[in-house]
Amino acid sequence: MKKILVATEKPFSKAAVENIKDVIQKAGYEFLLFEKYSEKADLLNAVKDVDALIIRSDKVDKDVLDSARNLKIVVRAGAGYDNIDLQEASARKVVAMNTPGQNSNAVAELAIGMMIYLNRHGFNGAAGTELRGKSIGIHAYGYVGKLVASIANGLGMKVHAYDPFIDQVIMEHDGIMVEKSQEDLYSKCQYISLHIPLCQETRESVNYNLLKLIPAGATLVNTARKEIIHEPSLLKIFEERADFRYISDIMPDCKDEIISKYEGRYFFTPKKAGAQTAEANNNAGIAAAKQIIGFFRNGDTTFQVNK
Ligand code: 3PG
Repeated sequence: MKKILVATEKPFSKAAVENIKDVIQKAGYEFLLFEKYSEKADLLNAVKDVDALIIRSDKVDKDVLDSARNLKIVVRAGAGYDNIDLQEASARKVVAMNTPGQNSNAVAELAIGMMIYLNRHGFNGAAGTELRGKSIGIHAYGYVGKLVASIANGLGMKVHAYDPFIDQVIMEHDGIMVEKSQEDLYSKCQYISLHIPLCQETRESVNYNLLKLIPAGATLVNTARKEIIHEPSLLKIFEERADFRYISDIMPDCKDEIISKYEGRYFFTPKKAGAQTAEANNNAGIAAAKQIIGFFRNGDTTFQVNK
């Protein structure tokens, strides 16, 4: 019987785990669970004889792949798969997949929620500011970007977007003001919401040259990955512009400096929280289980992200 392991340092909700287990067992496979681990050695041990792996932001690197000698497929229950070493997976003929769109709404709600939270000073009673009438730039119009745009639109924000991979007509149809370059987007929008994936091209790509363009009331919102920010630029802009604020779902490496110097101008979640809702856990976890079953039964490789 094929073994499918859910290996999640940050656990899914109990209900989601039960549902994933049910889908796997009903399909005739063995369900295994390994969560809240802190040692890589324990992960290496847990994956030893499994045929399939469901993960979240858990790192699947060369060591993990070496240890998982029976592994045929790893599914990242979520969007970003920068935590999987795709080259090493391909070299071992391990199929890697993600579950696009399944947790996007949770991330979009967090992005907007964090903006409101910072604008109202953590609801401490001091007068805050509103989102209505402000401009927001959606940097990449994928599943999350599209949802942030739609919520922002509902809140009465002026919504712009830049995404060279999405047909302009689609964005225009959604009522978005389409920008032709990153520079155009950053120079027109007070709020910039980041939805680009982490890859070689995007690593540290949000830099001083872009950040300096944001008009007064500049607020950078990052529910993507901390590595897409060039942190020396972030610190420089914090220092130069008293109006600049940074909201991020996960602390930057330079958090200590920001926290000590720029009170009231930042908000960081202590642990990545974007996809941490009952609904997102359920959707992404079940989708991952079903994709594995489809792969084992019919060789279905829809959503494969490696060659
Ligand atoms: C994703 O890429 O899907 C999100 O960043 C969520 O990550 P998580 O599953 O580790 O919370």
